[in-house]
Amino acid sequence: MNEILVIGIESTAHTAGIGIFSSTRGILANEKSEYKPISGGIHPREAAEHHSKTFPSLLKSALEKANCRMKEIAAVAVALGPGMGPCLRIGASLARALALKYGKPLVPVNHAIAHIEIARYSTRMEDPLVIYVAGGNTLITTYVEGRYRIFGETLDISLGNCLDTFARETELGFPGVPEVEKLYHKGTQLLDLPYIVKGQDVSYSGLLTHALELFKKGYAIEDLCYSLVEIAYSMLVEVAERALVHTKKKEIVLTGGVARSKILQKKLFLMAKIHNARFSSVKPEYAGDNGAMIAYAGYLALTSGIVIPVDKSFIKPLWRLEQVEIPWRKF
Ligand SMILES: Nc1ncnc2c1ncn2[C@@H]1O[C@H](COP(=O)(O)OP(=O)(O)O)[C@@H](O)[C@H]1O
Ligand SMILES: [Mg+2]
Repeated sequence: MNEILVIGIESTAHTAGIGIFSSTRGILANEKSEYKPISGGIHPREAAEHHSKTFPSLLKSALEKANCRMKEIAAVAVALGPGMGPCLRIGASLARALALKYGKPLVPVNHAIAHIEIARYSTRMEDPLVIYVAGGNTLITTYVEGRYRIFGETLDISLGNCLDTFARETELGFPGVPEVEKLYHKGTQLLDLPYIVKGQDVSYSGLLTHALELFKKGYAIEDLCYSLVEIAYSMLVEVAERALVHTKKKEIVLTGGVARSKILQKKLFLMAKIHNARFSSVKPEYAGDNGAMIAYAGYLALTSGIVIPVDKSFIKPLWRLEQVEIPWRKF
């Protein structure tokens, strides 16, 4: 079989990433650079500027790591959404330029689908229930009849954003999830914070507001971190458990930036065990945003005939994952 090489470009939020996937040798390169806000949250225009400055060297080192040249690449895959408009535009411009200059097909990739597919790829799971938790997303999904369907999601902010904002407001640092988790282990008291599950959906904004109010009242930061993590993660595990029983899947995979959380991994592992399901988490290097996942999802799409003309390759900041057809999955 001839080798097919796909280059993937990621720029939906804070990360500029370029990855190269080979159909015979797997992931050959996964170069990235993360924009870190000086103060406050992600500033889309500043992040976009970071991406446009870092992409040239990322492209060069990705090609060097993969030991290949652009003319050997079969297609250019790009995350067209969902994400922040100014950031998406930088990656899309680079992808269009490469496709035109080297006469390569352009493959549109949904960022959330890429997080799911790289999790299946890196854990070798066939048909898992997917828990996708990141700075921009919190949702539970699995494949049913041609698409990934949502079996629960946040009604407001994501779990990652809840902890990141808490960490920022309490000056624990960025990224927030690992900072809050460090103090989690030192907490001793479970404080009364709102546990909000509505049907299959969760809500984190009330939890965040309440935790910040208690912080201002002088409650111990260790107890706040412990309670915040305990409550936020338990809400997610509750809806994931119902989704597992309902969909009768036998595997659970955790993906997205927060998939590196050992605490969340353990909670999901224990829940999976009760139901005789296998649990695994995406490899840490593919948990946060990265170009390799775009290259791999791009390869799956390309080999299913999904390409887009350059003049139709608009960015899609609000592109939902259940809108995407998944022709590469047959069962
Ligand atoms: N070591 C870690 N353990 C758990 N969570 C982490 C870790 N490092 C970063 N995170 C969290 O991952 C989230 C970012 O996820 P990522 O998928 O990279 O971004 P996005 O949501 O913008 O696509 C943030 O909420 C951040 O706090
Ligand atoms: Mg992401």
